[in-house]
Amino acid sequence: MYKHQLPKQIMNFNLKEYVGILTGGGPAPGLNATIQAFVYAAFEKNIGVLGFHDGYRGLLDNNFSLLVPEALDPNRTHISSINGINVIGVTRIIDQPGSILRNSRTNLMKIEGGIEKAKQNLENLGLKALVCLGGDDTLSVAYELHKNGVNVVGAPKTIDNDVMGTDYCFGFDTAINAVAKFIRDLMWDARSTNGVFVVEAMGRRAGWIALEGGAAGGAHAILIPELYRAKVEDKELYPELAEYREIEFNVDSVVEIIRRRINRGKNYTVICVAEGYTDEILENIIEQEAKDIERDEFGHIRLDKLGVGKIVADYIAEKLNIRTRAVQVGYLSRSSSTSAFDAYMSINYGIHLIKLILEGKYGKMVAMEHSRFVDKDLSVAVGKIRYVEPWRFKNVSKFWSWTLTG
Ligand code: F6P
Repeated sequence: MYKHQLPKQIMNFNLKEYVGILTGGGPAPGLNATIQAFVYAAFEKNIGVLGFHDGYRGLLDNNFSLLVPEALDPNRTHISSINGINVIGVTRIIDQPGSILRNSRTNLMKIEGGIEKAKQNLENLGLKALVCLGGDDTLSVAYELHKNGVNVVGAPKTIDNDVMGTDYCFGFDTAINAVAKFIRDLMWDARSTNGVFVVEAMGRRAGWIALEGGAAGGAHAILIPELYRAKVEDKELYPELAEYREIEFNVDSVVEIIRRRINRGKNYTVICVAEGYTDEILENIIEQEAKDIERDEFGHIRLDKLGVGKIVADYIAEKLNIRTRAVQVGYLSRSSSTSAFDAYMSINYGIHLIKLILEGKYGKMVAMEHSRFVDKDLSVAVGKIRYVEPWRFKNVSKFWSWTLTG
């Protein structure tokens, strides 16, 4: 049993039970807003909340804090403890990016006995349920815990916006606003220096950020993973990618766009590429560069080290014999101040999470469908990626396709 006694009385709340919450994977704006809303809504129902630190690592190490609606000490320092348990007041964190609980990519399925140990620790604490906030990696572990008898609910969080079963993952809006701003800003440098910039946005497998942030920023061309993934993914699993196979657009198309712009006297170009981009022209270089790069616990290569933006920039430089520059904006976009939309969405995600628990809907995640919050089986989020649909790429490409023919 855990040595500390969970308090039954906090402020004016008589707590009848406890639930846990954790944030897995990369940080995303909206996590703290979700946590704040969840804690407020839980206390309203006289449910106490334990926040586990460092994602699933905290479950293994019994490393948690008590989350309460406001700082208990009068100086609002957020430092206090009850029964030897650290206490965090979650007030006014709605706009803060990152996670007050901290994140990690700990994969319980890769640690021997990890799922069992986590389950045991949760049982020892007597928690009614566990909330997992994360992308498909975090949700796949949540699903595994659920299959092993843990009362789990989840919400889709990732700036990549690529979780199946939901139209929206919180963090995405903040990220695209940031990327759009960086591109608009870089445009001034590009114009003044006759420069060619390659902006590398996050998006490990899907190109949502590059496409939407790039389009809104006015990028002259955008490269997203789907253009190539459509050719290599299982066609039966991903029928939605079919139309991409008719689109011939790759790094050489971008070279051509830049060449034609230069011929028209436009010596500046800003393009946007998703960090997970590859194509038949670059794949050998990318594979070569990737082979010695470390991987995280979910087996993903560290894409910041790969730097596909630089690979694209170098390729363009060589082809056109010009200077090009690559800028990675991934971490900056991921840590930008939470947008109003993300804060608002996250508040709702937090409130719906407590509803799922009260209704005993375990093994579910809160999802957004046709502008409504619904619940979906966690299994939906596992094993498939939500790619950018072809029509979205086609529409956006109208902004630059004329330059290919003009
Ligand atoms: O959370 C997803 C993500 O934003 C990916 O787009 C990116 O590849 C990854 O995080 C990088 O995160 P880290 O370097 O923190 O592991």
